[in-house]
Amino acid sequence: MKKNAIIITTMPTPQPSRRLFPKDFLWGAATAAHQVEGGNHNQWTDWEEENHVKFARLAPKRSVWPAQGTLQDVPSWKYVKYVATDPKNYLSGRSVEHYSRYYEDFDHLKEIGLNSFRFSIEWSRIEPREGEWDEAQIAHYKQYIVELRKRHIEPFPTLWHWTVPVWFAEKGGFEKRENLKYFERFVEKISKELLGNMRYITTLNEPNVYAFSGYVLEDHPPGKRNVFMALRVYFHLMLAHRRVYRTLKKQHPKAQIGYSAALINIQAKRPHNYIDELSTQVLRYCWNWWFPNRIRKEMDFFGVNYYLTWYLQGAKIKNPTLPINDMGWYMEPEGIYPLFVRIYDRYKKPIIVTENGVPDTRDEYRRWWLEQTMIAIERALSEGIQIKGYLHWSLLDNFEWAFGWWPNFGLIEVDRKTMKRTIRPSAYWYRDWIRHQMRK
Ligand code: BGC
Repeated sequence: MKKNAIIITTMPTPQPSRRLFPKDFLWGAATAAHQVEGGNHNQWTDWEEENHVKFARLAPKRSVWPAQGTLQDVPSWKYVKYVATDPKNYLSGRSVEHYSRYYEDFDHLKEIGLNSFRFSIEWSRIEPREGEWDEAQIAHYKQYIVELRKRHIEPFPTLWHWTVPVWFAEKGGFEKRENLKYFERFVEKISKELLGNMRYITTLNEPNVYAFSGYVLEDHPPGKRNVFMALRVYFHLMLAHRRVYRTLKKQHPKAQIGYSAALINIQAKRPHNYIDELSTQVLRYCWNWWFPNRIRKEMDFFGVNYYLTWYLQGAKIKNPTLPINDMGWYMEPEGIYPLFVRIYDRYKKPIIVTENGVPDTRDEYRRWWLEQTMIAIERALSEGIQIKGYLHWSLLDNFEWAFGWWPNFGLIEVDRKTMKRTIRPSAYWYRDWIRHQMRK
């Protein structure tokens, strides 16, 4: 056997004869405006201009984080290195032109048998200059929602998925508490115009990643290394969530409102080792629970985004080195199960998986990932944990932030030269799984 080879067996999925998934379960996929629309101008587009050469240069180093190995430990590097080391692949540019091709993409959603779709509304389009509303852009999103409804697809909007208008960033963005009023004003505007009759609304996407990547890791804007500022921004985002939750709830009392949390399944490498246990508890609290603990009253569902499991040995991540995906991340899809148990135990709220998936250009692991995740959801459902939906990340191959066009998360592959969409085999597996479940 080759040194790095790993065999992932796809065992026949255990299928209880009783259907565990509720009839109105949300079977869906997710995207974010800046990652798919194309032609945006926000703080991220400026950041890409400034940093694309650096990101291409750092690619080999970044592909092994947090695997902590060498490039030899990342079997897929040979397939992705040409894209990863080319600076132009760190510019979102035309992206995958979802802004103009959304009709076609919604047809594909139907073809995969999905009934819900998470997307974000791009603030920089709606309010490109301070206090000026672009009515044509509001009309665009209205039509967008109409087209989803026409196809009986539940719209699942996110109000903020990391991008902000340039003018807001120049004022200091979420660093300043007094700037929260701008975000609230934007939410009030779209609440009236776009959010009527929504069953679900996500306020913020992954505030922890935003604060950490922008103010500690320095690979997202504004790229400042300042832990104090990271905490401040995180705190302000928590206030922003509370405030917009209350506004939205008044205007749309029937809507279920939550936020999307980036949770890591953090485990002690050596269970019963005092130090590993302690660092696990501390990191779980800081990364996973600090934010939701503060918004218990302002949360109708718990939105979980799951990609990573980390085994902690002291303060270090000591993950198994296989299997590894295209970004060098160790893959443990079933790690979502212990998160379900902990979330439900702590918050007693319905859970919706608002993101979950794998960067896998060759569609080698996605089916296995999906299958293991479905088993984990069934197991949690069978134990009485309320899970209301699963929105796979992502519908389309898209712009993966500081990793640019190198990782491909799509159920649908996109050829960026021709913009041709091709449904990947794993997406058909997902379709068949849903059909089978719903027939039970
Ligand atoms: C983000 C997405 C991102 C995905 C994969 C999440 O942290 O919400 O925007 O593409 O993870 O890395």
